Parts: sequence; C-alpha cells; structure tokens
Amino acid sequence: MQVDELIESPLNYTGGKYKLLPQILPFFPNNTTRFVDIFCGGCNVGANVKSESVLFNDNNRIIIELFKLFKIKECNTTIRRIERIIKKYGLSDSSKHGYEFYSCSSSDGLATFNKDKFMRLREDFNNRTKKDERYYYLFYVLVVYAFNNQIRFNSKGEFNLPVGKRDFNSCMKEKLVKFINYLKTTNVSFSAKDFRKIVLNPDTDFVYADPPYLITCATYNENGGWGEKEEVALLEYLDKAHVQGIKFALSNVLSSKGKVNKILLDWIESNDDKYRVIHLNYSYSNSNYHTKDKKTKSDEVLVVNY
Ligand SMILES: C[S@@+](CC[C@H](N)C(=O)[O-])C[C@H]1O[C@@H](n2cnc3c(N)ncnc32)[C@H](O)[C@@H]1O
Repeated sequence: MQVDELIESPLNYTGGKYKLLPQILPFFPNNTTRFVDIFCGGCNVGANVKSESVLFNDNNRIIIELFKLFKIKECNTTIRRIERIIKKYGLSDSSKHGYEFYSCSSSDGLATFNKDKFMRLREDFNNRTKKDERYYYLFYVLVVYAFNNQIRFNSKGEFNLPVGKRDFNSCMKEKLVKFINYLKTTNVSFSAKDFRKIVLNPDTDFVYADPPYLITCATYNENGGWGEKEEVALLEYLDKAHVQGIKFALSNVLSSKGKVNKILLDWIESNDDKYRVIHLNYSYSNSNYHTKDKKTKSDEVLVVNY
C-alpha cells in the first residue's frame, strides 16, 4: 500500500501508529470479518485494514463521541461548524488568509496571535456542562490549536494544554475530510469501554491491541491511567482470546531509554511456543521534547499469536 493512500487520523494522536503502518499492516491477516481496534486512539490502525467491519474502542469517551459525530454529520456541516468556531473566537485561519496575514515569526508559528483566543476557547470548553454536538466540535478545534495537537486533561478533568503553533490549515482540513469520507463509507462502529468489557466473538474477530506503553509516558497516561495491573490484565485478556482461537496482534515497546518492560518480556518468553515477536524499526525520538538523548532507540514490537 502506498503511503499517500493511507488514512491519517485528524487528531495527530500521541502514540499514534500512522508512521509505523507500513511495517505493521503486512503482518495482519488479509481479510477479517471484524477488526477490533481495542485501544483505537486516533483510529490510525483500524482505518487502514482490510476488514468487512471495524470496531473502534477507546475508554476516552470524548474522542469516541467526536468520531461518531464525524460519521453521522454531513462532511460540509462538520467543516462549517468548525470554521464557525474558529471565526467566533477570532483564531487564525491560514488556509484562507495565508501565514503573512498574521505576521507571525517562524519560531513560534501562530502561537502569539492565537494565545488569548485559544485560552477563551479552552475556558468555554472546560466550563461547558452540556455534552452536546457543540461540546465535541469545540474539543476538536481545541486540539487543532493546542500544543503539538495533543490531548491532555488534569485530574479535575479540565483540558490543560497551552496554545500551539498551528491552526486549521489546508493539510489538517484535507486530513479531516479524508477521514470523514472513510468513516461514512465503511462499516465501522464505536464503543467507549474499558478494554476488559469488550466481548470478543471467535467466529468473526481479529483483535489489535495498542495500549498505553507501560515504560514510556504519554500525555493520556499522566493521571495514572495505565499501570502494571492493567498491563497484566491485558496480557490475560489476550491469553484468553488465544484459547478461544481468536487471532491477536499487540503493539508495544520491550525497552526504551534504558527501561525494560519485564512483565511483557516474561510473558513473551513463557509463551514462545505460541506467540511470535516481530521487531519493528522505529524510534520514539521525537515524541518527548524534554528528553535529553533524543536518539535513544526503542525496541518497538508487534506480538502475534499466528
Ligand atoms: C497508544 S494509544 C492508541 C493509538 C492508536 N493505535 C493510533 O494509532 O492512533 C492508546 C489508547 O488507549 C486508550 N486507553 C487507555 N486505557 C484504556 C483502557 N483501560 N481501555 C481502553 N482504552 C484505553 C487511551 O485513551 C489511548 O487512546
């Protein structure tokens, strides 16, 4: 598959597997009845598989509700509503006016221009009690204008990232339209459950698990959402799937920046007659801007039971 044929998440998801797709996709079965993307995040993986249907699950309810909205609303309606929010808050719109219009320096991009407007948007989003369509569209715009397009909530449930350098530029818009078209023309469904609650069907399902990585820190994991207990529960869940005759693939890192995922390593070793490890060629060097040694390699793997 050519890279330009791939569907990319409109959310630029942290830990997203878009760049790894050329290495992961060839290991999936050719055609599945239902592909269960059990930690779907930005949907980068499920959106690019050959399957009669896809179930996207993630315990982040906001992203799941946003994707549902993208699927049911007319694409033009979604774009119009996003553009209306951008206009209402006076945020930059480089796709219409170009970058010179905002007289921004290249180092801070559009951040200076957008800062106050973004803070007003963030405040309105955090104060909104009604979880209606507008709430989810506000969320999308917030992510587009947020630092590195990331998603992060504090322990009180408030979105707390500062403004970023970018805006709803032509590239973001194009990505969104392509993604919406994919959702509208494919047999996809959504759920927002903890992975343990997803009941698999041995007659139809292939399960792909891309959990938060125990030994690397992603923003969606900062409030202690993923720990050893979850890691063990996931490995048990996959063992159970295997016993039921269900094929699975698990993404993870075995080691990163001097840390080793011992739980995963032990599990792989004690199941080496059943499960296979595929080492991928990828480094998370750009994912954390505060890391001193940006070049440290991670042992990114795909573990499969077929
Ligand atoms: C590495 S990201 C997935 C990225 C995705 N594969 C992509 O390419 O866009 C892991 C996801 O797991 C979700 N998650 C964390 N704990 C979970 C749980 N207990 N049940 C289901 N999803 C969970 C997070 O919200 C996050 O979106």
